[in-house]
Amino acid sequence: MDKMWAGRFEKALDQTADDFNSSLHFDCRMFRQDIQGSMAHAAMLGAKKIISPEDASLIVETLGAILADLENGTLTFAEGGEDIHMFVEAELTKRIGDVGKRLHTARSRNDQVALDLRLYLRDEGQAVISMIRELIGVLAEKAGTYKKTIMPGYTHLQRAQPVTFGHHLLAYAMMLIRDAGRFQDALARMNVSPLGCCALAGTTYDTDREMTARELGFDGIMWNSLDGVSDRDFCVEMASACSLLMTHLSRFSEEIILWSSWEFKFIELDDAYTTGSSIMPQKKNSDMAELVRGKTGRVNGNLMALLTMLKGLPLAYNKDMQEDKESIFDSIDTVKKCLEVFTPMIATMKVLPENMLTAAQKGFINATDLADYLVKKGVPFRSAYKTVGRAVGKCVAENRVLEALSLEEFKAFDPLFEEDLYREISLETCVEKRISAGGTSAESIDRQIALITEFLKK
Ligand code: ARG
Repeated sequence: MDKMWAGRFEKALDQTADDFNSSLHFDCRMFRQDIQGSMAHAAMLGAKKIISPEDASLIVETLGAILADLENGTLTFAEGGEDIHMFVEAELTKRIGDVGKRLHTARSRNDQVALDLRLYLRDEGQAVISMIRELIGVLAEKAGTYKKTIMPGYTHLQRAQPVTFGHHLLAYAMMLIRDAGRFQDALARMNVSPLGCCALAGTTYDTDREMTARELGFDGIMWNSLDGVSDRDFCVEMASACSLLMTHLSRFSEEIILWSSWEFKFIELDDAYTTGSSIMPQKKNSDMAELVRGKTGRVNGNLMALLTMLKGLPLAYNKDMQEDKESIFDSIDTVKKCLEVFTPMIATMKVLPENMLTAAQKGFINATDLADYLVKKGVPFRSAYKTVGRAVGKCVAENRVLEALSLEEFKAFDPLFEEDLYREISLETCVEKRISAGGTSAESIDRQIALITEFLKK
């Protein structure tokens, strides 16, 4: 096939170089956006009499037919082409000859690709946000169910203080709310039109960029043509939002994997989201969570690839930028695939509160509360901390727990200890008394759920 830019060349492009250069096999997924952008451009050219209104109508109509044929599969990308932009234009010209050749007036593939990618990522970003919101909804619902379910809270993966399972789940809901916000922010900054920046310097035609921007649902236009064609900040921002989202899903996955192990057994994943071993009949593996954790690496890699691709590029367009698409597409695809299994995996997991409670009863996770008991009786915190440390030491040596010590034994450490200490250090009290804003009490969880419900209404 003759290249559209064939005029100034004497030889055809080497076949291997041609394949190397072609991006159709991955940018073909932007065919809807490419056609949508071309329709808006043609309509504007017609309205501004840069081409005749009749030609503009024929172009728009034919582009509509091409779109329909691509949607229903009568037209495929098998014919090849350098990229999606060339493919659509070639097909248009094949169908309506010289009229089709007028479409590319006052435009370049440089503003075209920047436009297509923004349109594509705008839809994808919205889709990711909806999926994040769905997961947040599942977490809020589960948190309500388990707002009084006591489990050990950890620092350094050592039992630290009791928390509720509901509170733990909502920690992830809060991260996800920020993630949705990051996608929203990226989308808001991205939603300006580069169309009409042309190759790099704008154009001598009397175009109306605001008109195409409005038509395509943008909030405005990019005001510097060099920037318009060479800005890929929006890809980086989107990839970065993907990375942070994956980081949160990965940390969550790590906990799911730990909690599913026999050592913890806090939860059991539904059979539908686990796999067996080919050799060990007893195994039930949390492959989905492991894959989410694993795929975080490639999403981070995509972010690095984009940043590195951009860092040495002079203005304006350089072909290096063609590399943006596979990276950002892969990040978005991966995030969506992960959320697709992660959300139902969480929704269907079985929670085992008795095992959480058993784990919470060991490890002296009420030691801080015992120290606080003395503090409330006037002992300075540091001294109370030491006293309780000695009591813990005795328990460790005798393989007992704090609440098993008799009042006499407690009094030997500090005469201020009274019978009411037992109620004070019960795990229920430890949790319920943590009513500070954002604490682990059921009251605080209700407040968090209310905030999340508000967020989900927006
Ligand atoms: N396929 C190209 C890309 O993805 C489209 C823009 C090509 N522009 C050019 N001047 N070669 O970046």
